[in-house]
Amino acid sequence: MKKIWTLLVGLLLHGAVFAQTSDSLIVIKAGRMFDSEKGTFLENQTIIVKGNIIQSVGTNLKYPAQAKIIDLSKATVLPGFIDCHTHITSQPDNYMEDLFRKSPIDYAVEAHIFAKKTLEAGFTTCRDVGAPELIDVALKRSINAGHIAGPRLFVSGPIIGATGGHADISGFSPYLSFKAISGVADGIDEIRKQVRYNIKYGADLIKFTATAGVLSEEESVGAPQYSQEEMNALVAEAAMWDKKVAAHAHGTTGIKMAIRAGVASIEHGSFLDEEAIELMKQKGTYLVADIYNDDYILSEFAKLGYPEKLIEKERTVGKTQRESFQKAAKAGVKIAYGTDAGVYPHGNNGKQFFYMVKFGLSPAQAIQAATINAADLIGVKAKLGSITQGKWADIVAVEGNPEQDITVLEKKIKFVMKEGKVYLQK
Ligand code: ARG
Repeated sequence: MKKIWTLLVGLLLHGAVFAQTSDSLIVIKAGRMFDSEKGTFLENQTIIVKGNIIQSVGTNLKYPAQAKIIDLSKATVLPGFIDCHTHITSQPDNYMEDLFRKSPIDYAVEAHIFAKKTLEAGFTTCRDVGAPELIDVALKRSINAGHIAGPRLFVSGPIIGATGGHADISGFSPYLSFKAISGVADGIDEIRKQVRYNIKYGADLIKFTATAGVLSEEESVGAPQYSQEEMNALVAEAAMWDKKVAAHAHGTTGIKMAIRAGVASIEHGSFLDEEAIELMKQKGTYLVADIYNDDYILSEFAKLGYPEKLIEKERTVGKTQRESFQKAAKAGVKIAYGTDAGVYPHGNNGKQFFYMVKFGLSPAQAIQAATINAADLIGVKAKLGSITQGKWADIVAVEGNPEQDITVLEKKIKFVMKEGKVYLQK
């Protein structure tokens, strides 16, 4: 009998606590607030958060006296940032050690650390575009269950690509084999099957390599790695399951093939020409260009033991990629923020804002790329990307004014809320 009472009281208490947290109001006083839909900064806004949702936003709003106040009246308040190109489950320590001594278990063990760093950098959502052994799916599940602090993840599972291509492990003896869940698929049938496999095990989107890459052993940086027919089949199969496709693409020919196949975004986009830019505009294809990476690779990767061949490839890409970005920005191509975090150490996702402004965007446009545009690309604009009534309460604040100094977005994060829960408050 006593047991039953304890249980009942326990349940009631649990219910009460739950009711209190889901009904309790948080009132954020924002000195300056970014309106990402319009691309403007507003003064003295009040944001009322109820549970995980933004209940209302405006000036002089009324709220009950018992509401919890968070005073950000000296800060700039923005929607939680979204990085559309991360590899949140790993980051390089040493080329040889990473390849030959670690197993996916090492990555699975460390991933939560990277997730926390990313969230504390103000990135409340990431589109993760390639992880070994479905660690991305596991990490997402654990974050959603509330066990791990991290950004909300939209994940791709293994990257799909051709034998010997950027998504394969090449450059070693054929007698050396790596046991792994692989995204390597050749020909229409295998590609369709791989798309289905990824989706079966939890992919929210499909990522494939349309061209060769930098940090892989192929000779080329930009040659296409699938035929037009293969790319068309991949995108059609993904569409059947209502999934969007992100194409890793550096070289001009492969970029155009991927756009024609109907991908949602071109990742990297290093060698864009006029026609590629025109095609992207026509088809509404997003550009997700990781234009901070070049700095990190050129200054650090030799020290991490990366082969000179790979670093030499970076030298052929970095500058042109930034120029391509500038041309695309000028032409009005849709741009979403994506950094390739995991090439550089996690938590530095904000460093790319500076380069996006340096290469052609206004500060407001750069922030739109990381908020409303990114939400649009992922397909979650109804819930994310702006501080708007009814959306999830993903809210960050920085010290200073990003319109005057964009680097405050990388250096001065002082507040992070994800779905109404505060993860950082300085
Ligand atoms: N994952 C990419 C690749 O290996 C990284 C490219 C980095 N370089 C750059 N300039 N964005 O192709």
